[in-house]
Order: sequence, then structure tokens, then C-alpha cells
Amino acid sequence: MEIGFLGLGIMGKAMAVNLLRHGFKVTVWNRTLSKCEELAAEGASIEETPAAVIKKCKYTIAMLSDPSAALSVVFDKDGVLEVICDGKGYIDMSTVDPDTSLKISEAIEHKGGYFLEAPVSGSKKPAEDGQLVILAAGKKELYEEIIPAFDVLGKKSFYLGQVGNGAKMKLVVNMIMGSMMNAFSEGLCLADRSGLSCQTLLDVLDLGGIANPMFKMKGPTMLQSSYSPAFPLKHQQKDMRLALALGDENAVSMPVAAAANEAFKKARSLGLGDLDFSAVYEAVKVAEGSASATK
Ligand SMILES: NC(=O)c1ccc[n+]([C@@H]2O[C@H](COP(=O)([O-])OP(=O)(O)OC[C@H]3O[C@@H](n4cnc5c(N)ncnc54)[C@H](OP(=O)(O)O)[C@@H]3O)[C@@H](O)[C@H]2O)c1
Repeated sequence: MEIGFLGLGIMGKAMAVNLLRHGFKVTVWNRTLSKCEELAAEGASIEETPAAVIKKCKYTIAMLSDPSAALSVVFDKDGVLEVICDGKGYIDMSTVDPDTSLKISEAIEHKGGYFLEAPVSGSKKPAEDGQLVILAAGKKELYEEIIPAFDVLGKKSFYLGQVGNGAKMKLVVNMIMGSMMNAFSEGLCLADRSGLSCQTLLDVLDLGGIANPMFKMKGPTMLQSSYSPAFPLKHQQKDMRLALALGDENAVSMPVAAAANEAFKKARSLGLGDLDFSAVYEAVKVAEGSASATK
């Protein structure tokens, strides 16, 4: 199967490499074209525009930062829409809001193409290991055709029905994750300020009912103020913002998520946006007056 791939950031690069290593022919494009070279070394072909990728491939996957990037790649000059036509499938795996997804879907289907949104749960390591959870919605036929690629990228795919449902599910999941990360950061702060060992807190948490892979993986690096980005904080804040907008639309009060969003915004204002989202701990520490923001 020949697959086009647009967007070679942290996630896109890992996913495209996985497809190549499992025998797919992959043609890549990235806004910063130099990032394509690493993929060429793995056997990928390179095109200079999204349109050129679509023209060449029956199926194209996109993995882009946010709604404005997802829209730009489709609607701008040399974009997807210029060439998408009957029989071509476009699968957007970026995390965006349902309206963005719907706008892209309508434009593509108007040109005769098929559209699937398929945001993912899981970060850099699951992307490298083909262990993502795929939250697909849109054209069912396209979902069924692209399953061989999803089987390589993920450990489980869900088909959630109409376009928008994948985006909504992803935003709900990340809203919960962002709120948990903030509660975790406050707990670490409280343990430290009240004279407890944070390492002992991690050990205690790991043995109880609220043990989870995120605390287990991020806790030790947070204690070292080490925030090499697996999931950039600026993207987590984008997801909180989009989830809160979904809450507005549905009149769901989310004071916990709103407070967590403020902490992520604070972290961005401290210059931590490109670090891992766990760097929100530094913003929580600053708010408590117990530390300086670490780079
Ligand atoms: N990292 C994670 O753990 C994780 C997990 C699940 C979902 N996600 C979601 O997956 C998506 C990608 O995340 P990531 O971590 O791979 O992000 P990233 O490392 O920041 O990569 C973002 C990608 O989007 C491209 N891009 C940004 N603005 C663009 C524009 N205006 N036009 C064209 N391309 C543009 C970037 O191109 P350049 O290289 O030129 O900047 C890059 O390829 C996001 O929606 C994120 O929320 C991430």
C-alpha cells in the first residue's frame, strides 16, 4: 500500500517510520522540508507540496500541530484540495476541534474524495512502538481500507461514527489528562512544601488505586525538572482550550479543566510551551513561590 504522509513532527515522524519499517511505501512532505531527509534515509520518497503527495498517493495521512495547520495544509496554495478527487482518501490524525474536522471533510467530499478523522491517544513512545489508540470517525469505507496501516500504527482502533466524534473523544481524553497532570503537580508541590519526600509520594501512588502509567513515567523526570518534549505543552494547552470550547457548546461546567488550562497558559507565558506538558509542574511551583521556571 502506498501512503502519503503530511507532517513530520514528534508524532508524524515516528508514525511514518513505523509504516516504512512494516513495508508500506511512504511519500512524505513537511513544512520544514529539511525534516524529510531523515525519512528519506528510511526509504521514503519526498514531495515538495501537499498537493504533490495527494496526486501521487491513493491514501494520505496528516499529522499536524493544530486547527490552523490542518486547515492551511488543505485549503492554502498547493494544498490538498487542489488535487483531491474521486477515489482518494485523506486521513487527518491531528488533534483538532470537531468544526475544523467537519470543514475539511465537507471540502474534500465536495471534490469527490473520502475523509476520515483519526486523532490518536498515546505519545511519542507509543507512536514509535505502534501502540497508539486510534479514534476514527467519518467515511466507513475509508476506515476499512486503511485498517492495515492503523494496525501498524496502533494497538486498537475505534470507529466512532460521524465526523466530529473522533475529535470530541480525543478532546475529552486530553481534558482529563491535563487536569490529572495539574492535580499531580499540585500534589508533588504539597508533599515537598510540607516536608515529605516526593519520591516516596511516587512510590505510594504507584501502589494504590490511582496508580497510572502517566504518573509512573512522568513523575521521576518531573522530580529532576527534565522535560524533553514527548507531548509539547503548547499542544496540551491547545487541547484544553478546544475541550473547554466543547464544554461551552454543550453547557458543561468544567471548573477543574478551566483551572488546569490556566496553569498551562501560565507555563506558556513562562516560556515552557515547547517542553513536555509535564513542565506545567514548574508553573505550579512558581505559583506556590517554591521554585523558578526551569528550561
Ligand atoms: N506528541 C504527542 O504526544 C501527541 C499525542 C497525541 C496527539 N498529538 C497531536 O498530534 C499532532 C502533532 O503533534 P506533534 O507532537 O507531532 O507536534 P509537533 O512535533 O509540534 O509537530 C507539528 C507538525 O505540524 C507542522 N505544522 C505546524 N504548523 C504548520 C502549518 N501552518 N502548516 C503546515 N505544517 C505545520 C510542523 O511542521 P514544521 O516541522 O515545519 O514545524 C510539524 O510537522 C498535534 O495535533 C498533537 O496535539 C500529539
